[in-house]
Amino acid sequence: MCRAVFLLALTVLVCPAAEALDNGLALKPTMGWLHWERFMCNTDCYKDPNNCISERLYMQMADVMVKEGWKEAGYEYVCIDDCWPSHQRDAKGRLQADPKRFPGGIKKLADYVHSKGLKLGIYADVGKNTCAGYPGSLGYYETDAQTFADWDVDLLKFDGCYMDWKLLGEGYMNMSRALNKTGRSILYSCEWPLYEWSHKQPDYKAIRETCNHWRNFDDVYDSWSSIKSILDWTASHQDIIAPSAGPGGWNDPDMLVIGNFGLSHDQQESQMALWAIMAAPLLVSNDLRDICPRSKKLLQNTDIIAISQDPLGKQGQCTIKVDSFEVWERPLSKKRLAIAVLNTQEFGGPRGFFMRAAPGWKICDPQCNVTQILPQYKELGVQTPHTKLVVSVNPSGTTLLTVTPTSDYAGLIL
Ligand code: GLA
Repeated sequence: MCRAVFLLALTVLVCPAAEALDNGLALKPTMGWLHWERFMCNTDCYKDPNNCISERLYMQMADVMVKEGWKEAGYEYVCIDDCWPSHQRDAKGRLQADPKRFPGGIKKLADYVHSKGLKLGIYADVGKNTCAGYPGSLGYYETDAQTFADWDVDLLKFDGCYMDWKLLGEGYMNMSRALNKTGRSILYSCEWPLYEWSHKQPDYKAIRETCNHWRNFDDVYDSWSSIKSILDWTASHQDIIAPSAGPGGWNDPDMLVIGNFGLSHDQQESQMALWAIMAAPLLVSNDLRDICPRSKKLLQNTDIIAISQDPLGKQGQCTIKVDSFEVWERPLSKKRLAIAVLNTQEFGGPRGFFMRAAPGWKICDPQCNVTQILPQYKELGVQTPHTKLVVSVNPSGTTLLTVTPTSDYAGLIL
């Protein structure tokens, strides 16, 4: 609802984003680790005990998250994806973890993760089966919500396979209500719009009222073409999706694949910068036990995380595509702005981008202070609308800046 705000003689209409799911969660984009992209449906603990989907994997990730600075950087949720359950429900119709791979059960795993000061996420599906063919929750929403609450789970990723698309909305809303009814705070991560887009334009108002974040587009892979396709889709649908993001509910462009095999370091920087600009959940899918120091440093970069977690909670957008550059801009609190310049030209060397060409540069009137965050931290000092600042951007890399309006000529802080 729009509120009329009276400022001196000026009346302006303030229209906040639609109401978010009112469970007090995800006031900032969720941060954590999620197994899917890196570990997929590897259930062979006999041949591959270190990498199979088992309680050991999540316990080890939780250990590393505490020991290696991830928790301190803000990564909080340790999330299980598909392939954790047994193929059969128990005698009371409840989901149960595969007994060989999770001998202690999920409740014990949750206790372990909580003892580390972290939270546990689990995965289920709105339809008859999960995407990998395990039992789905259709017909069991209340039972499954209660089971997850009894296990002290903190997040549910709810997939949309094996479901009549016309029933998706109803299913996602019913599970949201079932989670609420348990009385436990369970963050609700949905894939509702992703499965609806091929049939109709999703109702983002209803989605924001139902879920804490929602996937819109294809699964991410460990490749630059996958990251590019996600950015292209987001830019071409931003007028529809970006307004629905804000504290309590976020668009989810899928996991960070930084620290794996497919992206160059520049491309990893692009993913990190753009996910922060898009106010995306930062759910890393990699092997935290074995990650190169440079990728780790990037994922733990406090200046980028501060952009991601900025309290204004506004999703950034692609504001101009010019000369094989894309400029993405995100308004931040205290009237600041984050600007990411992506060089989409995949040949040659670094190219210069004239910062005055960024639409958001108008906040430098009369003056601003600019800090470069990527590729290296650098204070670029005071700039004006007529500045000649040119930043260098590597092929498929991103230069990320924050811009702070500074005192005007009269010495007043804006
Ligand atoms: C779908 C989802 C993925 C992952 C798999 C698991 O493809 O979009 O994120 O959860 O299912 O089977």
